[in-house]
Amino acid sequence: MTSKLRFVRLTFSFLLVVLSGWMATSLVLSLGQFGSPWLRLAFAIACYSGVVWWLSAICLHNRVWRSAALLFYPVTLLAVAANVPVWLPLVALLLLILAGGQAWRGRVPLFLSHAAVLDALNQILPETPRLVFAELGSGTGTVLAHICSRRPDWQLHGYELAWLPYSYSWWRFRRQKRVTLHRQDFMATDWSGFDVVYAFLSPLVMEDVWQKAMQEMKPGSLLISNSFDVAEHPADIMLDTGKHRQARVLVWKMKAKEEA
Ligand SMILES: C[S@@+](CC[C@H](N)C(=O)[O-])C[C@H]1O[C@@H](n2cnc3c(N)ncnc32)[C@H](O)[C@@H]1O
Repeated sequence: MTSKLRFVRLTFSFLLVVLSGWMATSLVLSLGQFGSPWLRLAFAIACYSGVVWWLSAICLHNRVWRSAALLFYPVTLLAVAANVPVWLPLVALLLLILAGGQAWRGRVPLFLSHAAVLDALNQILPETPRLVFAELGSGTGTVLAHICSRRPDWQLHGYELAWLPYSYSWWRFRRQKRVTLHRQDFMATDWSGFDVVYAFLSPLVMEDVWQKAMQEMKPGSLLISNSFDVAEHPADIMLDTGKHRQARVLVWKMKAKEEA
C-alpha cells in the first residue's frame, strides 16, 4: 500500500474510532443522570476510552494515532471546562500538522539527533574532501549544521517533508551556499550522487530505505543510521553512543549489486 493511501486509511479510521467513541459515550450518558458531575465525567472518559481501545484494536493499528484518539475526548472536555477559546485547539492542531503532518504519512515523527550521535559521526565520517552528504528527513538541520562546520568543502543536502522544521532549517542555512534544503520526499529522489547518506527515521521504514540504497547508492558510499538496523543485513560498523536512547549508530558500506 502506498504511503498516501495508508495516510488516508489512518485518517478515516481515526475519525471513525473517535466519532464512535463519542457517540457511544453520549448515548450512555443520555440514559439518565446519576452520581456527582465528577463521577459522570469519570464514567464518560472510561466509557469513551473503552470503546476507542476496542475499535482501535480492530482498525487503527498505529500507536501515535491510537494515543491521539484516546486523548481526543478528555482533552476536549478539559478545554471546554477551562473555557479555552475555540481557535486555540485549531491553532495547536495546525502547528502539529506543520511540525510533523506530512511526515506522519511516512510513519516518522520529529526527534532530533542527540549530541552523542554527532560525536559518533565525527569518528565515522571520512576526511575525504568534496563529498556529497545527504540527510533523509533533515528535521531542524541539527546534523547538517554539525557536518557543515566539520567538513567545510562538502556539499550537503537535506530532505524534509514537514513545513515547520523545513522552514526553520531553510532560514538557518539561508546564507550557506553548500547546504541545499529540499521540501521533498526522500524516497522520491535519486540517491546515486550521494557519498554519505544519514538517516534517523523509524524501524518501520528501514527496509524501504535499505532497498532504495541497494538500488541507487554507488559502491563505496556510506549509509548511516541512527538507532535503527535493517533485518538480515548487519551493519559493517556499529558504534555505541553510551546513551539509553539513540544508543547505536550503524554504518553500511555499499557494495556493487553483484557482491551484495
Ligand atoms: C526522527 S526525525 C530526525 C530529524 C533529523 N534528521 C535529526 O536527526 O535531528 C525524522 C524526520 O524525517 C522527516 N521525514 C519523515 N519521512 C520523510 C520523507 N519521506 N521525506 C522527507 N522527510 C521525511 C520527518 O518530518 C522528521 O522531521
